[in-house]
Amino acid sequence: MFDIEFLDIPPLSGAGGAVRLPGSKSISNRVLLLAALSHGETTVHDLLASDDTAVMLAALRQLGCEVRQDGSTAVITGLGGRTAHTPAKLFLGNAGTAMRPLTAALALLGGEFELSGVARMHERPIGDLVDALRQLGCSIDYLGNEGFPPLRLRSGPLKLNEPIRVRGDVSSQFLTALLMALPIVAANDICIEVVGELISRPYIEITLKLLQRFGIDVRRKGWEQFIIPAGSRYQSPGEIHVEGDASSASYFIALGAIASGAAGKNGVEVLGVGADSIQGDIRFVEAARMMGARIDSTPNSLRVSRGTWPLKAIDLDCNHIPDAAMTLAVMALYADGTTSLRNIASWRVKETDRIAAMACELQKLGATVEEGADYLKITPPLTGGWKTAPIRTYDDHRVAMCFSLAAFNPARLPIRILDPKCVGKTFPDYFEALFTVAKADTDHIPVICVDGPTASGKGTLAALTAQRLGYHYLDSGALYRLSAFAALRADVSLDDGAAVAQVARAMSVRFQGDRVFLGAEDVSEAIRSEAAGMAASRVSAHPEVRAALLALQHSFRQLPGLVADGRDMGTVIFPDAPLKIYLTASARHRAERRHKQLISKGNSAIISEIQQDLEARDARDSSRKAAPLKPADDAHPLDNSYLSIEKSVDQVIDWWQGTRPF
Ligand code: DC
Repeated sequence: MFDIEFLDIPPLSGAGGAVRLPGSKSISNRVLLLAALSHGETTVHDLLASDDTAVMLAALRQLGCEVRQDGSTAVITGLGGRTAHTPAKLFLGNAGTAMRPLTAALALLGGEFELSGVARMHERPIGDLVDALRQLGCSIDYLGNEGFPPLRLRSGPLKLNEPIRVRGDVSSQFLTALLMALPIVAANDICIEVVGELISRPYIEITLKLLQRFGIDVRRKGWEQFIIPAGSRYQSPGEIHVEGDASSASYFIALGAIASGAAGKNGVEVLGVGADSIQGDIRFVEAARMMGARIDSTPNSLRVSRGTWPLKAIDLDCNHIPDAAMTLAVMALYADGTTSLRNIASWRVKETDRIAAMACELQKLGATVEEGADYLKITPPLTGGWKTAPIRTYDDHRVAMCFSLAAFNPARLPIRILDPKCVGKTFPDYFEALFTVAKADTDHIPVICVDGPTASGKGTLAALTAQRLGYHYLDSGALYRLSAFAALRADVSLDDGAAVAQVARAMSVRFQGDRVFLGAEDVSEAIRSEAAGMAASRVSAHPEVRAALLALQHSFRQLPGLVADGRDMGTVIFPDAPLKIYLTASARHRAERRHKQLISKGNSAIISEIQQDLEARDARDSSRKAAPLKPADDAHPLDNSYLSIEKSVDQVIDWWQGTRPF
């Protein structure tokens, strides 16, 4: 999860491999609520772990449902006719899939509740649902602006004989909310009449299919009238599996359609949704095919590769795929003309005003965009007309995910995604998944090198810089320490370069957070001793050992980037790195820091001896023939004797920004 200010995605060149999708948000949150309203216990498999589902689970717990979770499985003991804990104040974040259905369900269950969310949630309309519930006799007050959350719900006598009228042309979630809530009180047939043209019908189909799984057979006449039969009663299906999220699939379908070259030969395999999906957004497949994607499907998976190139511009009514259609807007950047996405007015009341947001951000990349009340027309940049700029994401997961695909731009410009963690709403590991299948040319994957003498604070500086940028981190010194450690274990003399090199080549090394594993053994402490450092310095002087560790070090250069620390990162291992730092501090300062470290670990030490050791190690590291410690010609010197670690990181990030095109 990239909990950082911005994420720079290097120019991408291909894709290949498989991605398993997280569970569908729409299905997850519907299933959780239906399980909570049911009689009996429901085991929900493959539940999406995201902000929206966390909000729903917290609310259900607060209402008195027992929820047991183990990874992606949740076991819910339904309320089954029991009243919920009341009064209760529920905070529902920005989760529309929690706010709307819970409003309806709690209003009908009876009791006193307050429902609120983040500021944006208080700008998302709910008046049409409240109007419908008030017709039923529910007592609902607006605590802020008329027509918007926060809301207060109170019990009142219900009138269920008249048909309930609800608008269907603003959000289908209002109808979904009523369909899921009314079975709780269906002593007689309850009729819902939809006013206006019902939008996003596929989402209603999901609702109806899931209701059926929980024992409710809604009768419907076209899309205008829905009847909840008298005597309906929620019954748990026992077990239920959540499909992969079809809207999330759209990014990887687009990836397969856009990515080219040898690496993309076999295309992208998307696991978790396929031809049998009950989600409306699966029809994104048709739209992607229209634009030129080659897609084969099985009931539960898709295989996508590039077909027509450039993609074909399309003119499409997107009412049936409102969420996934945002992905088409970014695919349009690679099309052979102007793409028109029509009938998308609902975008304006989602996580953000998505029409305005997409128009603004696409233009930053050089596209020409025409924005209407309910449409977008996108003309790609001319060759040479591509630009890059930080992409704002408006706390909207889909904006962030869509724009990652702009990294395939032919101008080979990196793309900066601001506030990337907003993908947590539906796909917390989106970027990790993207980086496992997307490929970049190695020389486009940035490396920041931090070299310098012993105890200069390279490790801390490099690790914190990596954290700030969401990059990988390589502690190359640990590899020399491991080589010496493994050699001593195998009774190999540290003076025998060829033999130590052989040991080094055979090592199985794994870094996990700040732990280091040799095979299955956690050797983090063992390799950190002063003796281990000295031994590392000895083996590191052998050219054969350095050669043996070369490929391993290069293998750390992975998307989205790397910060590497050592002695020769900038001079030998990554000479093409766009930023190199040579970090120093006076021997006295370094000895004092090391002294503090040792004392804090309960070791006794004398500063003057430490300083002597450090100087001896520096002398050996600098005077050896193979890759001696010295600043690269293009390195920025940084003396941190009197600089805090925060200031040092800020300085590195400053230099880094200077190398970027933003
Ligand atoms: O950074 P460190 O103290 O963990 O490094 C241990 C020894 O490994 C150091 O004295 C020299 C050697 N080393 C090296 O030769 N080249 C590197 N890139 C990193 C470390």
